[in-house]
Amino acid sequence: MMRGKTVIITGANSGIGRATAVELLRRHARVIMACRSAERAEEAAAEIRQQAAAVESPPEAEPQISERGELIIKLLDLASLASVRRFCDEIIREEPCIDVLINNAGVYQCPYTKTEDGFEMQFAVNHLGHFLLTHLLLDVLKRSAPSRIVVVSSKLYKYAEINFEDLNSEQSYDKAFAYGRSKLANLLFTLELSRRLEGSGVTVNALTPGIVRTNLGRHVYIPLLVKPLFSLFSWAFFRTPEQGAQTSVYLACSPDVEGVQGKCFADCREEEPLPKATDEEVAKKLWDISEVMVGISK
Ligand SMILES: NC(=O)c1ccc[n+]([C@@H]2O[C@H](COP(=O)([O-])OP(=O)(O)OC[C@H]3O[C@@H](n4cnc5c(N)ncnc54)[C@H](OP(=O)(O)O)[C@@H]3O)[C@@H](O)[C@H]2O)c1
Repeated sequence: MMRGKTVIITGANSGIGRATAVELLRRHARVIMACRSAERAEEAAAEIRQQAAAVESPPEAEPQISERGELIIKLLDLASLASVRRFCDEIIREEPCIDVLINNAGVYQCPYTKTEDGFEMQFAVNHLGHFLLTHLLLDVLKRSAPSRIVVVSSKLYKYAEINFEDLNSEQSYDKAFAYGRSKLANLLFTLELSRRLEGSGVTVNALTPGIVRTNLGRHVYIPLLVKPLFSLFSWAFFRTPEQGAQTSVYLACSPDVEGVQGKCFADCREEEPLPKATDEEVAKKLWDISEVMVGISK
């Protein structure tokens, strides 16, 4: 049960994040939806409330409103370091306690774009934005210990490397490689952060959700004629967002993973990642460079 616990979910208005919000609200958590569009977040929040209520206890057994979960919307654009800072300032001002941070938002194979801070979009949103967000919320997470950080990665990390000489993809941009690299960065971030959090009472673990039917493929071009076939295929073979959210929910709530640190999960089970995702030297180097990129290096 998550009653009384405060959970931040980035990208909670769509797909896996949205399904995670439904599950946690059902468990009576206070869910802070960290989204970049107020309109999309409000629309999703109305549906999330309905879905969470649909399977709640019958009216006579219902808890009082104050004991129920709560859904709060806060604006966060992970493509803007200024927005990440504004969001964190607000959270630190208003929230005495954060029990779980779920770094879920992501962008997949977008055309080459630079953020207002001058970073390649997929690396910026999937890695750098979450890197700064976690850094700025770390004190409140530590004060709230035992607390948890959950990082949503992807198995596509297997097809990329951290090419330190061109993290901004200025020499060449391969959108699939850039996505894989950002998801490998998620795993290396989890590894290095877990080392730094040793003994703090804050745990961090990563997960890969499988192939899930969401809006993630919005930038992928599918010819008009092939679209119906692709839809059929995805309905038959892709996971639903609810299925895709299971490991996020597990890592956020389950007593099974209390104290578990720096691991990677799939289908609610620990999985051994490839050596490239457990390389401590690369993880440390990426951490140091990320600190410089987001402007927090000492
Ligand atoms: N779907 C899969 O098969 C799959 C597989 C492996 C891993 N994943 C990972 O799962 C996570 C969730 O993706 P999903 O499949 O649920 O996709 P989705 O439906 O597209 O949801 C992605 C969420 O991220 C948000 N987002 C994107 N850019 C953002 C930004 N600059 N600032 C703040 N939020 C931003 C989106 O907001 P808007 O709605 O406003 O765009 C949306 O809420 C991602 O990290 C993805 O890499 C997904």
